[in-house]
Amino acid sequence: HEEFTKVRNILSIELGNHEMDTWYFSPFPPEYNGTKKLYFCEYTLAFFKRKEQLQRHLKKCTVQHPPGEEIYRNGKISFFEIDGKKHKMFCQNLCYLAKLFLDHKTLYYDVDLFLFYVLCEWDERGYHVVGYFSKEKCSEEGYNLACILTLPPYQRKGYGKLLIAFSYELSKKEGKVGTPERPLSDLGLVSYRGYWTRELLALLADPNRQFVSIKDLSDLTMIKTEDIITTLQHLNLLAYQKGAYVICAAPDLIQKHLKNAGGPGVRVDAKKIIWTPYN
Ligand code: COA
Ligand code: NA
Repeated sequence: HEEFTKVRNILSIELGNHEMDTWYFSPFPPEYNGTKKLYFCEYTLAFFKRKEQLQRHLKKCTVQHPPGEEIYRNGKISFFEIDGKKHKMFCQNLCYLAKLFLDHKTLYYDVDLFLFYVLCEWDERGYHVVGYFSKEKCSEEGYNLACILTLPPYQRKGYGKLLIAFSYELSKKEGKVGTPERPLSDLGLVSYRGYWTRELLALLADPNRQFVSIKDLSDLTMIKTEDIITTLQHLNLLAYQKGAYVICAAPDLIQKHLKNAGGPGVRVDAKKIIWTPYN
Protein backbone atom coordinates (compact mmCIF):
# COMPACT_ATOMS: atom_id res chain seq x y z
CA HIS A 1 0.00 0.00 0.00
CA GLU A 2 1.38 3.43 -1.06
CA GLU A 3 1.02 5.21 2.27
CA PHE A 4 2.34 2.30 4.25
CA THR A 5 5.52 2.10 2.19
CA LYS A 6 6.18 5.81 2.80
CA VAL A 7 6.97 5.17 6.48
CA ARG A 8 10.63 5.83 7.25
CA ASN A 9 12.32 2.47 6.71
CA ILE A 10 16.06 2.93 7.17
CA LEU A 11 16.57 4.72 10.49
CA SER A 12 20.29 5.43 10.33
CA ILE A 13 23.28 5.10 8.05
CA GLU A 14 27.04 5.05 8.26
CA LEU A 15 28.99 6.95 5.63
CA GLY A 16 32.74 7.30 6.03
CA ASN A 17 33.39 8.50 9.57
CA HIS A 18 29.82 9.74 9.97
CA GLU A 19 26.81 8.09 11.45
CA MET A 20 23.52 9.88 10.72
CA ASP A 21 19.87 9.48 11.53
CA THR A 22 17.70 9.58 8.45
CA TRP A 23 14.73 11.90 7.91
CA TYR A 24 12.46 10.24 5.33
CA PHE A 25 11.50 7.11 3.49
CA SER A 26 13.69 6.03 0.60
CA PRO A 27 12.70 3.28 -1.86
CA PHE A 28 15.61 0.86 -1.43
CA PRO A 29 15.19 -2.45 -3.28
CA PRO A 30 12.92 -5.03 -1.58
CA GLU A 31 15.82 -7.10 -0.23
CA TYR A 32 16.52 -4.23 2.19
CA ASN A 33 13.02 -4.39 3.69
CA GLY A 34 13.25 -4.69 7.47
CA THR A 35 16.82 -3.33 7.54
CA LYS A 36 17.13 -0.48 10.05
CA LYS A 37 20.70 0.59 9.35
CA LEU A 38 22.75 0.70 6.18
CA TYR A 39 26.52 0.96 5.72
CA PHE A 40 27.64 3.06 2.74
CA CYS A 41 31.02 3.07 1.01
CA GLU A 42 31.75 6.79 0.92
CA TYR A 43 33.49 6.57 -2.47
CA THR A 44 31.17 4.37 -4.54
CA LEU A 45 28.07 4.87 -2.35
CA ALA A 46 27.50 1.09 -2.49
CA PHE A 47 25.43 0.15 0.55
CA PHE A 48 25.32 -2.93 2.75
CA LYS A 49 23.20 -4.43 5.52
CA ARG A 50 26.16 -5.42 7.62
CA LYS A 51 29.37 -3.65 8.52
CA GLU A 52 31.46 -6.74 7.68
CA GLN A 53 30.11 -6.61 4.13
CA LEU A 54 31.19 -2.98 3.83
CA GLN A 55 34.62 -3.82 5.24
CA ARG A 56 35.03 -6.62 2.71
CA HIS A 57 34.03 -4.18 -0.04
CA LEU A 58 36.49 -1.55 1.19
CA LYS A 59 39.39 -4.02 1.00
CA LYS A 60 38.76 -4.35 -2.73
CA CYS A 61 37.69 -0.77 -3.36
CA THR A 62 40.64 1.21 -4.68
CA VAL A 63 39.02 4.53 -5.54
CA GLN A 64 39.01 7.40 -3.06
CA HIS A 65 36.85 9.84 -4.97
CA PRO A 66 33.56 9.91 -6.86
CA PRO A 67 33.52 8.95 -10.55
CA GLY A 68 33.26 11.57 -13.31
CA GLU A 69 35.27 14.72 -13.89
CA GLU A 70 36.68 16.97 -11.22
CA ILE A 71 35.50 20.33 -12.60
CA TYR A 72 36.41 22.52 -9.64
CA ARG A 73 39.07 22.52 -6.98
CA ASN A 74 39.65 25.29 -4.48
CA GLY A 75 41.69 24.41 -1.41
CA LYS A 76 40.10 21.35 0.16
CA ILE A 77 36.88 21.66 -1.82
CA SER A 78 36.08 19.97 -5.11
CA PHE A 79 33.14 19.44 -7.41
CA PHE A 80 32.80 16.32 -9.54
CA GLU A 81 30.47 16.29 -12.52
CA ILE A 82 28.99 12.84 -12.96
CA ASP A 83 26.93 11.78 -15.96
CA GLY A 84 24.03 9.58 -14.83
CA LYS A 85 24.26 7.56 -18.00
CA LYS A 86 27.97 6.82 -17.70
CA HIS A 87 27.99 6.14 -13.97
CA LYS A 88 24.54 4.74 -13.41
CA MET A 89 25.31 2.72 -10.28
CA PHE A 90 26.94 5.60 -8.40
CA CYS A 91 24.14 8.00 -9.33
CA GLN A 92 21.40 5.55 -8.37
CA ASN A 93 23.12 4.95 -5.04
CA LEU A 94 23.35 8.72 -4.57
CA CYS A 95 19.60 9.05 -5.21
CA TYR A 96 18.77 6.35 -2.66
CA LEU A 97 21.00 8.06 -0.14
CA ALA A 98 19.64 11.54 -0.89
CA LYS A 99 16.00 10.51 -0.64
CA LEU A 100 16.62 9.67 3.04
CA PHE A 101 16.86 13.46 3.57
CA LEU A 102 14.47 14.74 0.90
CA ASP A 103 10.75 14.84 1.51
CA HIS A 104 8.43 15.80 -1.29
CA LYS A 105 10.83 15.65 -4.18
CA THR A 106 10.05 12.98 -6.70
CA LEU A 107 13.43 11.48 -7.20
CA TYR A 108 14.16 10.33 -10.67
CA TYR A 109 15.76 6.96 -10.62
CA ASP A 110 16.05 7.27 -14.34
CA VAL A 111 19.42 8.89 -13.75
CA ASP A 112 20.41 8.82 -17.45
CA LEU A 113 18.82 12.21 -18.04
CA PHE A 114 20.72 13.97 -15.26
CA LEU A 115 24.11 15.32 -14.39
CA PHE A 116 25.15 15.17 -10.75
CA TYR A 117 27.41 17.78 -9.20
CA VAL A 118 28.95 16.23 -6.12
CA LEU A 119 30.65 18.51 -3.60
CA CYS A 120 33.56 16.92 -1.72
CA GLU A 121 35.96 17.87 1.01
CA TRP A 122 39.42 16.45 0.59
CA ASP A 123 41.80 15.06 3.26
CA GLU A 124 44.54 12.42 3.47
CA ARG A 125 41.95 9.63 3.37
CA GLY A 126 40.38 10.86 0.14
CA TYR A 127 37.39 12.85 -1.04
CA HIS A 128 34.39 12.90 1.26
CA VAL A 129 30.92 13.61 -0.07
CA VAL A 130 29.46 16.72 1.54
CA GLY A 131 26.42 17.24 -0.67
CA TYR A 132 25.30 17.51 -4.26
CA PHE A 133 22.83 18.91 -6.70
CA SER A 134 21.40 17.27 -9.79
CA LYS A 135 20.54 18.94 -13.05
CA GLU A 136 18.63 17.76 -16.09
CA LYS A 137 20.83 17.53 -19.15
CA CYS A 138 18.15 19.36 -21.14
CA SER A 139 15.43 21.14 -19.21
CA GLU A 140 12.51 22.48 -21.22
CA GLU A 141 11.35 24.42 -18.16
CA GLY A 142 14.71 26.13 -17.74
CA TYR A 143 15.60 24.37 -14.50
CA ASN A 144 19.24 24.72 -13.51
CA LEU A 145 18.85 22.43 -10.50
CA ALA A 146 16.61 19.46 -9.72
CA CYS A 147 17.59 18.25 -6.24
CA ILE A 148 19.95 19.78 -3.69
CA LEU A 149 21.26 18.25 -0.51
CA THR A 150 23.86 18.94 2.13
CA LEU A 151 24.37 15.81 4.23
CA PRO A 152 23.35 16.44 7.86
CA PRO A 153 26.87 16.42 9.40
CA TYR A 154 27.84 19.22 7.01
CA GLN A 155 24.71 21.38 7.24
CA ARG A 156 24.68 24.98 8.48
CA LYS A 157 28.30 25.52 7.41
CA GLY A 158 27.60 27.46 4.23
CA TYR A 159 27.76 24.52 1.79
CA GLY A 160 24.13 24.88 0.71
CA LYS A 161 24.96 28.43 -0.34
CA LEU A 162 27.97 27.11 -2.22
CA LEU A 163 25.85 24.52 -4.06
CA ILE A 164 23.29 27.16 -5.08
CA ALA A 165 25.96 29.67 -6.14
CA PHE A 166 27.70 26.96 -8.15
CA SER A 167 24.48 26.10 -10.01
CA TYR A 168 24.16 29.75 -11.07
CA GLU A 169 27.82 29.94 -12.08
CA LEU A 170 27.14 27.04 -14.47
CA SER A 171 24.09 28.95 -15.79
CA LYS A 172 26.32 31.98 -16.40
CA LYS A 173 28.72 29.81 -18.39
CA GLU A 174 25.77 28.48 -20.41
CA GLY A 175 24.46 32.02 -20.88
CA LYS A 176 21.05 30.71 -19.83
CA VAL A 177 18.71 31.95 -17.11
CA GLY A 178 17.90 29.22 -14.58
CA THR A 179 15.59 28.39 -11.72
CA PRO A 180 15.39 25.47 -9.29
CA GLU A 181 12.75 22.82 -9.87
CA ARG A 182 9.69 23.16 -7.63
CA PRO A 183 8.51 22.41 -5.01
CA LEU A 184 11.28 23.69 -2.77
CA SER A 185 11.45 22.43 0.80
CA ASP A 186 11.29 24.97 3.63
CA LEU A 187 15.05 24.78 4.07
CA GLY A 188 15.51 24.97 0.31
CA LEU A 189 13.37 28.08 0.05
CA VAL A 190 15.18 29.88 2.88
CA SER A 191 18.51 29.07 1.28
CA TYR A 192 17.41 30.24 -2.16
CA ARG A 193 15.72 33.38 -0.87
CA GLY A 194 18.93 34.29 0.95
CA TYR A 195 21.00 33.73 -2.19
CA TRP A 196 18.65 35.73 -4.42
CA THR A 197 18.47 38.56 -1.88
CA ARG A 198 22.25 38.84 -1.53
CA GLU A 199 22.91 38.69 -5.27
CA LEU A 200 20.21 41.20 -6.23
CA LEU A 201 20.75 43.68 -3.42
CA ALA A 202 24.50 43.69 -4.01
CA LEU A 203 23.77 44.94 -7.54
CA LEU A 204 21.15 47.44 -6.38
CA ALA A 205 23.54 48.75 -3.73
CA ASP A 206 26.31 49.32 -6.27
CA PRO A 207 26.67 53.11 -6.64
CA ASN A 208 28.23 52.66 -10.09
CA ARG A 209 24.96 51.37 -11.50
CA GLN A 210 22.58 54.23 -12.12
CA PHE A 211 19.61 52.37 -13.49
CA VAL A 212 18.91 48.72 -13.01
CA SER A 213 15.83 47.02 -14.41
CA ILE A 214 14.60 43.54 -13.58
CA LYS A 215 15.85 42.46 -16.98
CA ASP A 216 19.32 43.89 -16.19
CA LEU A 217 19.35 42.03 -12.90
CA SER A 218 18.44 38.81 -14.66
CA ASP A 219 21.12 39.27 -17.32
CA LEU A 220 23.77 39.87 -14.68
CA THR A 221 22.82 37.03 -12.32
CA MET A 222 21.05 34.46 -14.54
CA ILE A 223 18.27 34.48 -11.93
CA LYS A 224 14.89 34.07 -13.62
CA THR A 225 12.78 37.26 -13.68
CA GLU A 226 9.92 35.56 -11.76
CA ASP A 227 12.33 34.75 -8.93
CA ILE A 228 13.62 38.32 -8.96
CA ILE A 229 10.09 39.67 -8.73
CA THR A 230 9.06 37.40 -5.84
CA THR A 231 12.30 38.17 -3.98
CA LEU A 232 11.91 41.94 -4.33
CA GLN A 233 8.21 41.70 -3.48
CA HIS A 234 9.05 39.71 -0.38
CA LEU A 235 11.41 42.54 0.63
CA ASN A 236 8.82 45.17 -0.22
CA LEU A 237 11.14 46.75 -2.76
CA LEU A 238 8.80 46.51 -5.69
CA ALA A 239 5.92 48.72 -6.74
CA TYR A 240 3.54 48.12 -9.61
CA GLN A 241 2.95 51.41 -11.45
CA LYS A 242 1.09 51.93 -14.71
CA GLY A 243 1.31 48.28 -15.65
CA ALA A 244 5.02 47.84 -14.91
CA TYR A 245 7.21 46.87 -11.98
CA VAL A 246 9.36 49.60 -10.50
CA ILE A 247 12.17 48.86 -8.08
CA CYS A 248 11.97 51.25 -5.13
CA ALA A 249 15.08 50.70 -3.13
CA ALA A 250 16.37 53.36 -0.76
CA PRO A 251 20.07 52.76 0.08
CA ASP A 252 19.48 52.41 3.81
CA LEU A 253 16.69 49.90 3.23
CA ILE A 254 18.95 47.84 0.94
CA GLN A 255 21.67 47.80 3.59
CA LYS A 256 19.17 46.67 6.22
CA HIS A 257 17.90 43.81 4.04
CA LEU A 258 21.42 42.80 3.07
CA LYS A 259 22.35 42.50 6.73
CA ASN A 260 19.32 40.29 7.39
CA ALA A 261 20.07 38.05 4.40
CA GLY A 262 23.04 36.44 6.19
CA GLY A 263 26.56 35.74 4.96
CA PRO A 264 27.57 34.31 1.58
CA GLY A 265 28.62 30.93 2.98
CA VAL A 266 31.49 29.05 1.36
CA ARG A 267 32.33 31.07 -1.73
CA VAL A 268 32.77 29.87 -5.29
CA ASP A 269 35.78 31.10 -7.19
CA ALA A 270 34.22 31.06 -10.66
CA LYS A 271 37.64 31.31 -12.34
CA LYS A 272 38.45 27.84 -11.04
CA ILE A 273 35.51 26.11 -12.72
CA ILE A 274 36.78 24.05 -15.63
CA TRP A 275 33.65 23.13 -17.51
CA THR A 276 31.85 23.18 -20.81
CA PRO A 277 28.05 22.93 -21.03
CA TYR A 278 26.51 19.57 -21.88
CA ASN A 279 25.25 19.09 -25.40
N1 COA B 1 17.23 26.07 10.52
C1 COA B 1 17.02 27.34 10.12
N2 COA B 1 17.60 27.88 9.03
C2 COA B 1 18.37 27.08 8.27
C3 COA B 1 18.62 25.75 8.64
C4 COA B 1 18.01 25.23 9.81
N3 COA B 1 18.20 23.98 10.21
N4 COA B 1 19.43 25.21 7.71
C5 COA B 1 19.69 26.17 6.80
N5 COA B 1 19.03 27.31 7.16
C6 COA B 1 19.00 28.58 6.42
C7 COA B 1 19.81 29.64 7.07
O1 COA B 1 19.29 30.88 6.70
C8 COA B 1 21.15 29.40 6.43
O2 COA B 1 21.95 30.53 6.47
P1 COA B 1 22.76 30.91 7.82
O3 COA B 1 23.44 29.66 8.31
O4 COA B 1 23.71 31.99 7.38
O5 COA B 1 21.71 31.41 8.77
C9 COA B 1 20.77 29.08 5.00
O6 COA B 1 19.56 28.35 5.12
C10 COA B 1 21.75 28.25 4.21
O7 COA B 1 22.68 27.65 5.04
P2 COA B 1 23.84 26.72 4.47
O8 COA B 1 24.72 26.33 5.61
O9 COA B 1 24.48 27.34 3.30
O10 COA B 1 22.96 25.51 3.94
P3 COA B 1 23.10 23.96 4.23
O11 COA B 1 24.45 23.47 3.82
O12 COA B 1 22.64 23.63 5.58
O13 COA B 1 22.09 23.40 3.11
C11 COA B 1 19.97 22.72 2.36
C12 COA B 1 20.79 23.88 2.91
C13 COA B 1 18.57 23.19 2.00
C14 COA B 1 20.64 22.19 1.08
C15 COA B 1 19.94 21.63 3.47
O14 COA B 1 19.16 22.09 4.54
C16 COA B 1 19.39 20.29 3.02
O15 COA B 1 20.08 19.52 2.38
N6 COA B 1 18.14 19.97 3.41
C17 COA B 1 17.53 18.69 3.12
C18 COA B 1 17.21 18.55 1.67
C19 COA B 1 16.39 19.69 1.15
O16 COA B 1 15.42 20.12 1.76
N7 COA B 1 16.75 20.15 -0.04
C20 COA B 1 16.03 21.17 -0.73
C21 COA B 1 14.96 20.52 -1.55
S1 COA B 1 14.26 21.72 -2.61
NA1 NA C 1 40.40 0.95 -0.05
